[in-house]
Amino acid sequence: MSLIHYCVVLILILVYSNSALGQDDEVLMLPNERTTLDDCHLRFHKLLATSLPKPAFGHPAHLKEFAHMGAIGWTQPNGTIAWKCGGTLIWDNFVLTAAHCVIDTENQAPDVIRFGDLNIETTEGDEYAQQLKIVAIFRHPQHRFASHYHDIALLKLEHNVTVTEVVAPACLWTDEEVRFKILEATGWGRTGYAEDQTPILLKVALKPIENEECGKVYRNVTDRKLRLGLQPHQICAVDKKMDTCEGDSGGPLQIKLMHNTRVTPFVVAITSFGTACGLSSPGVYTKIAPYHDWIVETMQKNGAMVPNDVYNATFCALRYVSLREYEDAIITSRTPDYVAVDTDRRHMFEVDGLPSYIVQLAWNGETNDCFGVIIDEDTVLTLAQCVTHNRERVSHIIYSNITTIKVSRIHVHPKYEQGSSYNNIAILRLQHFVNENDFDPACIWQDDTPSQEVYVHGSGRRDINRLLYSYDHDNSIDSSITILAPRVRFQNNSSCLIPKRYLPLLRNGLTKEHICSGQNLFLVPKSCDLVTGAAVHEDFYRAGNTYPMVYGLNFLGRECGFGEHSIAIGMANHGEWMKTILFSNYKTSHDTIQFVDTDHQEGDSCHRHDGRPARCVPISRCSRGWKQFLSNGTIELCATSSLACCSLNDIAETELNVIHPQLAGCPRLVENLNITSPRGSLVFIGWLTSKGMELRCLGTIITKRIILTSASCVGDEVPAAVEIEGNSGTQTRYEVDAILVHYAFNATDDTNDIALIRLQDTLVWSSDLFPSCLWTNTTHVPLVLSMVSPDDTGNVGLAKVVAMYNTDCQRTHMYDVQDSQLCARNPFDNFTCNTRSDQLRYDSPSSVSYIVGLSTDFDECEHFRYTVFTRISSFVHWIGMNI
Ligand SMILES: *[C@@H]1O[C@H](CO)[C@@H](O)[C@H](O)[C@H]1NC(C)=O
Ligand SMILES: *[C@@H]1O[C@H](CO)[C@@H](O)[C@H](O)[C@H]1NC(C)=O
Ligand SMILES: *[C@@H]1O[C@H](CO)[C@@H](O)[C@H](O)[C@H]1NC(C)=O
Ligand SMILES: *[C@@H]1O[C@H](CO)[C@@H](O)[C@H](O)[C@H]1NC(C)=O
Ligand SMILES: *[C@@H]1O[C@H](CO)[C@@H](O)[C@H](O)[C@H]1NC(C)=O
Ligand SMILES: *[C@@H]1O[C@H](CO)[C@@H](O)[C@H](O)[C@H]1NC(C)=O
Ligand SMILES: *[C@@H]1O[C@H](CO)[C@@H](O)[C@H](O)[C@H]1NC(C)=O
Ligand SMILES: *[C@@H]1O[C@H](CO)[C@@H](O)[C@H](O)[C@H]1NC(C)=O
Ligand SMILES: *[C@@H]1O[C@H](CO)[C@@H](O)[C@H](O)[C@H]1NC(C)=O
Ligand SMILES: *[C@@H]1O[C@H](CO)[C@@H](O)[C@H](O)[C@H]1NC(C)=O
Repeated sequence: MSLIHYCVVLILILVYSNSALGQDDEVLMLPNERTTLDDCHLRFHKLLATSLPKPAFGHPAHLKEFAHMGAIGWTQPNGTIAWKCGGTLIWDNFVLTAAHCVIDTENQAPDVIRFGDLNIETTEGDEYAQQLKIVAIFRHPQHRFASHYHDIALLKLEHNVTVTEVVAPACLWTDEEVRFKILEATGWGRTGYAEDQTPILLKVALKPIENEECGKVYRNVTDRKLRLGLQPHQICAVDKKMDTCEGDSGGPLQIKLMHNTRVTPFVVAITSFGTACGLSSPGVYTKIAPYHDWIVETMQKNGAMVPNDVYNATFCALRYVSLREYEDAIITSRTPDYVAVDTDRRHMFEVDGLPSYIVQLAWNGETNDCFGVIIDEDTVLTLAQCVTHNRERVSHIIYSNITTIKVSRIHVHPKYEQGSSYNNIAILRLQHFVNENDFDPACIWQDDTPSQEVYVHGSGRRDINRLLYSYDHDNSIDSSITILAPRVRFQNNSSCLIPKRYLPLLRNGLTKEHICSGQNLFLVPKSCDLVTGAAVHEDFYRAGNTYPMVYGLNFLGRECGFGEHSIAIGMANHGEWMKTILFSNYKTSHDTIQFVDTDHQEGDSCHRHDGRPARCVPISRCSRGWKQFLSNGTIELCATSSLACCSLNDIAETELNVIHPQLAGCPRLVENLNITSPRGSLVFIGWLTSKGMELRCLGTIITKRIILTSASCVGDEVPAAVEIEGNSGTQTRYEVDAILVHYAFNATDDTNDIALIRLQDTLVWSSDLFPSCLWTNTTHVPLVLSMVSPDDTGNVGLAKVVAMYNTDCQRTHMYDVQDSQLCARNPFDNFTCNTRSDQLRYDSPSSVSYIVGLSTDFDECEHFRYTVFTRISSFVHWIGMNI
């Protein structure tokens, strides 16, 4: 390393202002040893806080909820119209209804239909209403008025309706499987025995029930119209509350499906018949699915230009997307003609791609649909079911869709059985680090109580998922796949709705290791596929920043948990197993805890098994005992589980009061000095050369005669003097008396890289000349530290750095990182460089400046994110003995 000539003016340049720290008030402390998985905010600490603006807007609204509902009417001889049945607009000029509605009790056919009118008897809202003549009636060919079967008919209108927000066709549910737990019936239906026609449109929530159960009711009814019992083309539904009647005859039984942050009604069945109202018996409905082809063909044969796939859920939902209602979640307020919405509250977010912490698994070039989450530079969590594909074990991971990294080790949960939904978790270790400089890992949730609402990862067609505003009329088909971030709710075991077809995979039911999440709202089918092995997650605010917190890895569920919920393997329950793999030397067994002297209290002498002299102290003060406990769970205890019988050699020196009084008194001394500048304890150390005084190293004053610096900087040659800058900018030179390099300093691996310089004269403390205090805590260091470094121009720069676990920098360090060393990284740069005499400092809220580390001579800084320092707390005893 070349000699650096420092200019005599010491200027502190604050490289990153404190305002950029965005810290909470708490001082974050990093323990020396890693003992918890809940330390992501420490390991991957970010210094710059971010926030996002929230959009909000409103738009005018009409009553769109019943836009497809029509009232079917019979014009009476005196000119009034009797509204006796309901119908559903399914095409611009076609209405679907029940076959029994095509004649009334007087054998008359209906002749008129009215849409967009909530209150059929009054003129209220009539400006939106459209009334059209019925010009043709198509009853299903197999329907007989003498029976309840095939009770379905189409009505052709005189011309197209004008499609508006309050008059628009519905979609049809064409799947034989009716997966919905609740359906909605609408109609101007009678509400009780009185048989009054209610003037306004009503909706009622109904629960589909099995035909078998429903049939029990109708078996006793001697109804010749139902001689063959209930048929597969019929479904039954009962009022959830079992107290009111089903909807109007001919009206729809429907479900609203979400897409594009809106909902479109899908008609599942047509109201056919029921027993007497108010008797809480099920209504019977004609299912749409078996009649799909008849409906489409009939319309086609009668002049409608209907494509064959007109009722494909995706295409149908997109047809009038811009006219549909917004999903409830985003509506913040509603008046009769205006709704305000906040799209931040929507359930489905289209995102640019999977977050970079989601990695794809690969088998020598092949991929399937398995993913995992990366939790640090070389560790991926995934599902055990994802490890093997076509009998081959996963060989690589793909990070950010570009970087392929080889898997070096695979740890499948030892209790996992092939194909099982239990202990379905695995850890992959990578051969190389993910070397992205903006690497953002996922954090693992370790707590039992998660938030109510979280996000999952899905993928689906762009057209059906994009957010459309009221002024967009973009219903173009775009089958490209986009990544989705659906917002779902945690469900407990009783509210979890698992699709029936997954029950065989969950033979023992849901256990504590599972996370059930989802929404009761259904999506348009095939609009969202869960990403297998991706995360149930949430951005979590912690220590001034947000971190992605992963609750679990998804493995079961369709439509991203909407309507039917999805199941993930939770992280919290597998923490112990993960620690055994992620922490070196971690042992779970606590049975090695031994109480040796149960009647001994703090401070008493005690008897260790190894016979070494020992005393009872709080565990945290027994540095080696604590470390041993963490590594293999062995500890000898006194009266309580927090008192260790600690060998006298192990008791932290600070607790044995060997700390030199001058060092111990430092914080109080400095607090009382009313210091005016933080630089008052920095000195430059100089050597006399032919060119004069050469200031080569930075040192720090720790007592009135002692300067602390690194051995690698001062070398063997005794310096001539140190220079200290006064407040006025004047330099004062103090002659050096002697130098002491640590006896065990090793210039190869830079261990014990510490030296003391003694001055000939004694300093006089003032508000601009004062000591730095030593960081004496042997178990923790402050997470965010300042690195003070002289630069080439002779100024002293101050940069924020973040302390790291030794075990983390050990992964790439060429030598053993000793306990007496400390690693830190510059979070703003890809590398952390230092010179031989940089200092790691911590400025406490009470303005006391502590020296926490001294840099070592590490030449290859341009290859490493971190740099290694001498940990001052390990040398407090040595310093004390030598001052
Ligand atoms: C019209 O005739 C129907 C029966 O045909 C009757 O119920 C209704 O009261 C009459 N309305 C008026 C206004 O005469
Ligand atoms: C009626 O609506 C259909 C479907 O939108 C359209 O294809 C047809 O051209 C319309 N007919 C008239 C006469 O506008
Ligand atoms: C049907 O009739 C049988 C025999 O009369 C009776 O036991 C049963 O309770 C009835 N079921 C219903 C649903 O009414
Ligand atoms: C609708 O059609 C698209 C394109 O052909 C297809 O991918 C999708 O699966 C269909 N949707 C349903 C529900 O069948
Ligand atoms: C990932 O890479 C593939 C092929 O290189 C590309 O087709 C695809 O669009 C990429 N996906 C994303 C999300 O970048
Ligand atoms: C635990 O580790 C310590 C060293 O760290 C060792 O002395 C001790 O024997 C170990 N105990 C057991 C039970 O393995
Ligand atoms: C430091 O400041 C406090 C209050 O501002 C004052 O009481 C005290 O005397 C000052 N100490 C010195 C040494 O100037
Ligand atoms: C200095 O450190 C290196 C690397 O750890 C080691 O090989 C060497 O033995 C050490 N030297 C001494 C004198 O301990
Ligand atoms: C070291 O710091 C930690 C974290 O702030 C604290 O809990 C512990 O008590 C400190 N140890 C000593 C000896 O002061
Ligand atoms: C870190 O490296 C990335 C690419 O490897 C580069 O884009 C970025 O600018 C670098 N950051 C700094 C601060 O040099």
